[in-house]
Amino acid sequence: MKFSRRVIDTPPYLFHLIDEKRKAVEQKGIDVVSLAIGDPDRPTPNFVLELMEEEIRDPRNHTYPSYKGEPDFCRMVADWFEKRFGVRLDPAKEIMASIGSKDAVSHLPMVFLDPGDCGIITDPGYPVYQAAIGFAGAEAARIPLLEERNFLPDLDAIDPELAYKAKIIFVNYPNNPTAAVADVSFFERLVAFAKKYDLVILADNAYSEVYFEEQVRPISIMQIPGAKETAIEIHSFSKTFNMTGWRVGFVVGADHLIQAFLTLKSNFDSGVFMAIQRAAARALSHPQVLAFGRERTKLFKDRRDRIAAALRTSEFRFQLPLASYYFWVRVPDKYNSSVTFCADLLEKKGLVVTPGVGYGPSGERCFRISMTAPDERIDQGMRRLQEFAKEI
Ligand SMILES: Cc1ncc(COP(=O)(O)O)c(C=O)c1O
Repeated sequence: MKFSRRVIDTPPYLFHLIDEKRKAVEQKGIDVVSLAIGDPDRPTPNFVLELMEEEIRDPRNHTYPSYKGEPDFCRMVADWFEKRFGVRLDPAKEIMASIGSKDAVSHLPMVFLDPGDCGIITDPGYPVYQAAIGFAGAEAARIPLLEERNFLPDLDAIDPELAYKAKIIFVNYPNNPTAAVADVSFFERLVAFAKKYDLVILADNAYSEVYFEEQVRPISIMQIPGAKETAIEIHSFSKTFNMTGWRVGFVVGADHLIQAFLTLKSNFDSGVFMAIQRAAARALSHPQVLAFGRERTKLFKDRRDRIAAALRTSEFRFQLPLASYYFWVRVPDKYNSSVTFCADLLEKKGLVVTPGVGYGPSGERCFRISMTAPDERIDQGMRRLQEFAKEI
């Protein structure tokens, strides 16, 4: 039996490997604290469950959904988008439902890339960007995200030869794993860059609602005039409403870009369960949504501040996260490999964090802490990290 190059050349998914290691340590009877995965510890809020209860009992929701997303899903998303970002989208043409954002992230490169083509990704970055470009038979070219540039890529430093050759560029703000956010001026420069080199921007905005201060509320690239023609923005309900298991998101962009994605996606899957689409979209304008959002912001801000205080005590180097669930922390100098550091931390203290190299070679000197564990587990985890730092 021979497997395809596509499978042979793709490294195992980072979190799958971490899970295997965690299980092996747990089998020795050790209590393991995991601050590795960005999956909310809190349940989907009650108001969403109540909407789902209604929707799931409606037999009109039980058939195949439309490939593009239900018209009322797209309409409710358009209304939210306008209220949240001040941008009016045409629900019939410029919005499409997706099976979470991973569906869009993993399939969109195939809309633009042929074998031998090239797509630009950031380093570090969400690992699926590289895998998806590889699945399209194309090559991923990495551009660095540096701390001294607040983890925004230096567009002027990109070799024009690469920029002309590449057909897509992935960006992700709020960023996983660095927790950086992008401002209007960055997106303006990015849109101008994409127009100059005829690139499509794939802007992953999965964390748009997970932020800590009103002043740094994440924005949409669609706020930049002309962005719609050159960018597809990817959104998710996963992080917004603690709905990671429900698998619903959406993409927005100009009609011709959405149509091209539809051509591909309608051959891959048959859309998102209509009850889920309707429950998710109705949640966007539910009377309890504001209070829920405020509570989420407070929860993560408290956690962020507690983790930051613990890291400072142990003299770890990091930038205070502005949004997302993550801390991107320097591995202590004694270690020159993030994998060895994380393996030792797991073996000796029963704490799982993610080795930075899983997000690209530049992550070799970093590790990622996720704030999506119950408060007491986070505190326990930070105590273990502090003890470990003292011992090395
Ligand atoms: C940057 C980024 N994009 C997309 C996703 C996929 O999320 P979902 O498919 O649940 O929307 C994740 C998940 O962690 C992520 O970190």
